[in-house]
Amino acid sequence: MSFKKVIISRFGGPEVLQLQNIKKLPEPGPGEVRIKVLHTTANFTDTMIRRGIFPEVKKKPPFAPGYDMVGVVDKNGPKATKFMEGKLVADLTVTGAYSEYLCIPEYELTEVPESLDPAETAALILSYTTAYQMLHRYAKVKKGQRILVHGAAGAVGLALLQLGKQYDLEIFGTASSEKHQLVRDAGATPIDYRTNDFYSMLKENPGKKFDAAFDAIGGTNFKKSFKLLKRGGILIAYGFYNAVTGKGGSIPADFVQLVSLNLLPNGRKAKFFSIGASRKKHPEWFKEDLHTLFQLLEDGKIKPVIYEKYPLEKVVDVHKMIEASNHTGKIVLNVSGITSSIK
Ligand SMILES: NC(=O)c1ccc[n+]([C@@H]2O[C@H](COP(=O)([O-])OP(=O)(O)OC[C@H]3O[C@@H](n4cnc5c(N)ncnc54)[C@H](OP(=O)(O)O)[C@@H]3O)[C@@H](O)[C@H]2O)c1
Repeated sequence: MSFKKVIISRFGGPEVLQLQNIKKLPEPGPGEVRIKVLHTTANFTDTMIRRGIFPEVKKKPPFAPGYDMVGVVDKNGPKATKFMEGKLVADLTVTGAYSEYLCIPEYELTEVPESLDPAETAALILSYTTAYQMLHRYAKVKKGQRILVHGAAGAVGLALLQLGKQYDLEIFGTASSEKHQLVRDAGATPIDYRTNDFYSMLKENPGKKFDAAFDAIGGTNFKKSFKLLKRGGILIAYGFYNAVTGKGGSIPADFVQLVSLNLLPNGRKAKFFSIGASRKKHPEWFKEDLHTLFQLLEDGKIKPVIYEKYPLEKVVDVHKMIEASNHTGKIVLNVSGITSSIK
């Protein structure tokens, strides 16, 4: 039986993504499970992996991208006993999920409650675990605190807003003006970073400094976000959007800047967060947090903003759209042709 898979044929622009028809299904090895993927998502991080500039992925093409997935257990390999065939499971794959079938060690997988919509569940895996761990495992926010979120209408940004509201946080979020309604609807105060300098605007209010700032923009942003923190506050840096999109700075320079911010004796901290590194260090946190997020979704306390669901075949256009930042929230890719409705 054949199946479809999108591979990065060589590092480069969206055109290097190629849809292939693979003749034979992969066979799960000992302790592995073969998954029929229902949904994966397309993310800014996938575009970095496609360009060969994502520091945590050292693979060389050809390989399939795909950072996360929700799918159905299709076949257990020898000694894999944890999941019955047909069970719905999820994983943060980092690569590989732009494929109708893939094999994953069973210990990596998290069971998904059957009551959840698989597409909405897929939208949680990368962006919401990132947001949840930054808020609760690293910044350790307390109810009623004030936080600053950059890229507030993006996938991680909206997840931070929704999860922050669960905690009664007062949130300011930077975004382009056409995305402000979405930021307001999520309960935050929007700031148009294109026409205003967020630092100049917010420093006018010295009694209202921030307990935490979440910044994936980098460059001069890191320092400005840091200076808006109160004593005891924390800057969580988690990306280098400006360096990666050619708008300024470089990834090494951004790292040096973070280190130097911590050298200042000012009672504030700067930390770089990576969901991949955090999962490696604390695999139990990742599963616990995913279960918490499943529960919040089930209870209707969070609802991922899904910009659109596209078939896997549209992946080249989808990567172009992400790089142009024409979307808001998450883009879900339907992989196996099984459609699931958003409730
Ligand atoms: N470290 C980790 O574990 C981790 C995990 C997931 C993602 N990330 C990183 O986090 C970043 C965001 O990912 P995502 O999936 O949320 O991407 P996304 O959905 O594409 O969102 C990025 C947002 O940033 C906004 N933006 C761009 N320049 C900005 C600036 N100077 N100031 C404020 N906002 C700006 C963009 O839209 P507008 O300009 O139109 O407002 C867009 O809404 C990426 O760099 C990604 O690699 C890191």
